[in-house]
Amino acid sequence: MESSDIRDELTDILVTEKEIQDKLRELAARIDEDYAGKDVLLVGVLKGAVMVMADLARSLCGHVQMDWMAVSSYGAGTKSSGVVQIRKDLDSDLTNRHVLIVEDIIDSGLTLSWLLENFESRGAASIEVCALLRKPDAAKVQIDCKYVGFDIPNEFVVGYGLDFAERYRNLRDVAVLAPHVYS
Ligand code: XMP
Ligand code: MG
Repeated sequence: MESSDIRDELTDILVTEKEIQDKLRELAARIDEDYAGKDVLLVGVLKGAVMVMADLARSLCGHVQMDWMAVSSYGAGTKSSGVVQIRKDLDSDLTNRHVLIVEDIIDSGLTLSWLLENFESRGAASIEVCALLRKPDAAKVQIDCKYVGFDIPNEFVVGYGLDFAERYRNLRDVAVLAPHVYS
């Protein structure tokens, strides 16, 4: 499919590139203040959080390290299976680390609640979550997320790292995927 057709596969643009960048700078300023004098370990959840991590990390002024975890709970569909599998574990030891999990989106919250429980058992000094997007109406478990970019409606979204069947991650905005694409 030609890239010029991509816009026909989207309905609304929910969050623009400019809104994302402004919000990430705002969150980064809060994070810098909250972690002043501390080394932060940013843990990006692959693959959706790649863009958030890249832009958030570059807006931070303090010392950070980055690590990555790959988990899967979705397969090729648009609904969480609730079954989380580790595809790639962290390289870092979390003992006594200040961990900030960087996520693209909190949907049902199932993935993060599983990750938080998993990380808590590894002896971190602190664990917080930064998520660019959150769908309050889709929550199946409550997640204590300290840094949230945008609350969005309960629709399947793509772009800025978020995919449907590995496509659309390269879009600069976050948009609603047209139902005709997946139904
Ligand atoms: P849960 O439901 O466990 O979501 O909070 C976990 C992961 O699923 C992906 N996800 C989405 N991906 N559009 C996407 O492209 C969406 O609307 C969406 N909702 C969830 C995402 O990777 C999230 O971390
Ligand atoms: Mg994700």
